[in-house]
Amino acid sequence: NKKIIIAIDGYSSCGKSTLAKQLAKELHYIYADSGAMYRAITLYFLRNEIHHTNLNKVREALKDIHLEFVFDVDAGKSVLYMNDENIELPIRDMIISEKVSEVAAIKEVREFAVAQQQRMGNNKGIVMDGRDIGTTVFPHAELKIFMTADIAVRVERRFKELFAVNPAITIEEVKQNLEMRDYIDSNREISPLRKAEDAVVLNNSDLTMAQQLKIALQWAREKI
Ligand code: C5P
Repeated sequence: NKKIIIAIDGYSSCGKSTLAKQLAKELHYIYADSGAMYRAITLYFLRNEIHHTNLNKVREALKDIHLEFVFDVDAGKSVLYMNDENIELPIRDMIISEKVSEVAAIKEVREFAVAQQQRMGNNKGIVMDGRDIGTTVFPHAELKIFMTADIAVRVERRFKELFAVNPAITIEEVKQNLEMRDYIDSNREISPLRKAEDAVVLNNSDLTMAQQLKIALQWAREKI
């Protein structure tokens, strides 16, 4: 069996990471969450009071950021470390979701993240999810999936996730955040969120996790 690269892109909270993890597990591939890297950089900027428009400071800061995905045996999944700190929890905070799209629109930030993402794909056998994986990070990926889901479904899913850790969150807040990120991500100058021409569309509004996995696995096996 040959190893391939699977690129999964789409709007916020479409279930990209759920599908990516399922596929990686099934195929014994690496799973890489590219959004976590942009979230980590955003966390670093917030903690160090670096404003994303101050490009000199941004460039200096990027030299000090070391990101690494480490497989956590207890959690049964890979978690992101920044400068040797497990940052999986703080990067999921709403404060980060509110800032991340602005940070991810910066050229220097994208170059930094994309270079590392491309290195992770050197040996193939990887499933990566994000916004520009099929268009920019791995334009030659053997399988590109573009995921969509109705906005109401996406809001409901993300709300449940966030409510579990923060009961103060409101549906309206979640909806606004998803819409704002989708807007900034789709309209930025560098690598905007787009369906790659050769990507297959997967709308999972009415699919169970098992059903979406079945469809995607079939697409993958056709390429392997
Ligand atoms: O995937 P997730 O929702 O965690 O990504 C957070 C944010 O990171 C996105 O809203 C987007 O602004 C940015 N991102 C990106 N390119 C990627 C992955 C994420 O610009 N490949």
